[in-house]
Amino acid sequence: MRVVIQDDYNKMTKWAADYITAKIKAHNEGPEKARPFVLGLPTGSSPIGVYKELIRQNKAGELSFANVVTFNMDEYLGLPKDHDQSYWYFMHDNFFDHLVDMKPENINILDGMTADPEKECADYEAKIASYGGIDLFMGGIGVDGHIAFNEPFTSLASRTGLRTLTSDTRIVNSRFFGNDPEKVPAQALSVGVGTVFDSKEVLVLINGHNKARALAATVEGAVSQKWTCSALQYHNGAIIACDEAACDELTVGAYKYFLDIERGERL
Ligand code: GLP
Repeated sequence: MRVVIQDDYNKMTKWAADYITAKIKAHNEGPEKARPFVLGLPTGSSPIGVYKELIRQNKAGELSFANVVTFNMDEYLGLPKDHDQSYWYFMHDNFFDHLVDMKPENINILDGMTADPEKECADYEAKIASYGGIDLFMGGIGVDGHIAFNEPFTSLASRTGLRTLTSDTRIVNSRFFGNDPEKVPAQALSVGVGTVFDSKEVLVLINGHNKARALAATVEGAVSQKWTCSALQYHNGAIIACDEAACDELTVGAYKYFLDIERGERL
């Protein structure tokens, strides 16, 4: 696992955006350019800086999304697309609507209003598979280490499905729902830990003091369904991009090791 430690949030998101850009460009110039680059995407505050930078590069003509297909990680159950807290709304408001050449038909987001969640999730998995899987899945994590909406004790082999949110997550996310946890939907549709794990590469953003325990558990803890993000220790292409503030709970040895190994600044 690579752990790329940056001084602050802005540097972390710039690094992550440049990494994604480099991957898309390499794909479009490589032997597989006839098929689209398949990019997994998260919501949350962590990726906002990445989205802003990707939009800037796209508008400046430095990066094209014409050959990119996206799959989002998750969606609240019961929120329509036009609800300002749906992840569909978030993604369009913060990202897709600002890109000059993103094709709407290449955007995939789980339908929170589906009458048949099981079919919706099975179809989502099948659609990912139809593209040959996800090339790069960018993710964030919750303070409890959840990746997508895979709360503690979700199976590390889980696939896309219905999830029940913990009280902790509803409290944390209530900041977007008038600070009332009861207004946060109790369930969501989410890709599974196994779905993320199957991606060729996974890039997880972890920033801020409130994620310090989660970062340590992800990187140094035992692989455990209690911290679903820890499954990435077994992934051969996992990268954590983090800021200094999130490193507070790492051991000094681990912190020094990752700084040392990244000194070559390989992209
Ligand atoms: C939500 C989302 C996760 C996201 C997490 C962290 O719970 N379902 O996919 O990673 O929030 O959000 P933030 O980046 O705002 O801390």
